This record gives sequence, structure tokens and C-alpha cells, in this order.
Amino acid sequence: DSTIIQPLHLAWCSGALSGAPLLTKSTTLQDLPGVFADHTCWQSLAGSKPVYHVEMFATPDRPGELYTGVTHLMPGKVGEEFFMTRGHFHARREQGEVYIGLRGEGLLLLQDEQNSTRLERVYPGSVHTIPGFTAHRLINTGNEILSALAVWPCSAGHDYSALKNGFALRVVDDAGSVRVMEVNHD
Ligand code: 6PG
Ligand code: NI
Repeated sequence: DSTIIQPLHLAWCSGALSGAPLLTKSTTLQDLPGVFADHTCWQSLAGSKPVYHVEMFATPDRPGELYTGVTHLMPGKVGEEFFMTRGHFHARREQGEVYIGLRGEGLLLLQDEQNSTRLERVYPGSVHTIPGFTAHRLINTGNEILSALAVWPCSAGHDYSALKNGFALRVVDDAGSVRVMEVNHD
């Protein structure tokens, strides 16, 4: 029998997924205490303002399977600091991930267990191979939604607490240009 199966679908320009049941998770400013440097400003803005949505196929979580999802990160700032995802290591540290930029512009901040950091420019068509043992965070430096496709092992999990001192870089809007600042943890 040579039945042709209708595949799952990704709309390249918007990042919208369709063709199978989806899971979505929205993260608001109030879900991100301690993430942005300007705490007073964060408090004044907090509430239910959405910062990002993650939409993913409800892939059965079996050994060896991969998740496919899209992160939609809103444009915005807390003080001068651009909106960003919380960022994480995978609970299974050795497991990597692939990100592909779909729309908008931003940065992917990578940080290994020795706190070495790297920033990669994210734009429609950019491809990012995130190695194992590397924490990752998206930052929206533009004026429109930053959407990125991600594929990662179902078994990877998330470890949000390992980055106790946070990431070693912050990215801010310096009078219209993007400025990268090193964080002083003393
Ligand atoms: C993952 C992916 C990605 C990520 C989102 C939200 O491992 O699940 O990296 O889907 O979770 O971009 O980022 P946070 O999980 O850091 O909030
Ligand atoms: Ni991840």
C-alpha cells in the first residue's frame, strides 16, 4: 500500500506549526524574576506582559525521539536590556540542539560550563548548532517578533538552576545600537 502521508507543517515566514497536536507555553515578565539586570524597572513592568511563547509538536516522549518547536520572542526591553528567554543547560548535559532563525533579528547567547560565552547572530535562515554542555538563550535585538525553530532530544530536559550567577554577558540598547556588556559577579 503506497499511501502518501500528509506531513507536519512549518510556515517559514511566521514560524507557525500545524498538522498535529501542539503544546504551547507562554512566559510573561512576572515569570522571569531576577533575569533582567534592572530589578526596579522589571517590577514596574511585570504583570502578565508576554515575553515569549514556545509552540511545539506533542511528540511522544520515547527514547531517541526529537522534539520540534518554535520560540516566538517579543520585541521589548526592561530598562535598556533587550527581551530574552530565561536560558538553560539541558538536564542531560551532553545533549545538543539545533536552532534555525525564521523571522526577526537577534542573538543566540551560548555559555559553556567554564563560563566561556559566544554570541551568534540570528536572522531568517541562520543555523545554529548548540553543542552539548552549553547553556543557550535567545535575545531579541530588533523591533519585530524573533522566531526560531528548534530541534532537540526529548530526553534533554531543562536545568534552569545550574546558571546560578546567570549568563556572563548582557545585551543592551545603547542609544539605538546593540551593546554587549560583561557581567561583574563580585
Ligand atoms: C529547549 C529549547 C527551546 C527553549 C525555549 C524557551 O531545550 O526546549 O532550547 O524550546 O526551551 O526557547 O527558553 P527557556 O526554556 O530557556 O525558557
Ligand atoms: Ni534547549
